[in-house]
Amino acid sequence: MTKKEKRALVLAAREAMRLAYAPYSGCRVGAALLTSGGKVYTGFNIENAAFTPTVCAERSALIRALHEGERDFAAIAVIGENTRLPEAGGSFYPCGVCRQFMREFCPPDLVILVADPSGERFEELTLDALLPHGFGPENVKGEGRP
Ligand code: THU
Repeated sequence: MTKKEKRALVLAAREAMRLAYAPYSGCRVGAALLTSGGKVYTGFNIENAAFTPTVCAERSALIRALHEGERDFAAIAVIGENTRLPEAGGSFYPCGVCRQFMREFCPPDLVILVADPSGERFEELTLDALLPHGFGPENVKGEGRP
């Protein structure tokens, strides 16, 4: 992926962040998932009055892509802002549930771009770095990813 492609993915995530439904935490998060074929699926966090059903931006992007029949993913960009507590820091690293959710469908070398709220700077990681020794489909079925 070129620097330009990475920046474009971060900008797509930042655009999606505007639609976040986060009345409880005030943390607005956007994600943009890039398929191996070059398509981008965006998502944002959707909170819930009962709190537990809250869906993160990463999972909403992945679910949208899966609904379109996508199964091969290359990268995901995540960006967020804490509107109530900006000093809390603006890097939204994928939560543990999202890391595990991605582990099901994404390769270990999936590029994960964690951007600051401006979208101008981002850190580049991989799924394997964020979820080492992850438990995946091959541990249940004895095969690689289906
Ligand atoms: N959140 C995400 O959408 N993605 C992350 O990477 C971390 C957290 C959301 C969930 C919740 O709506 C809010 O941020 C505060 O945890």
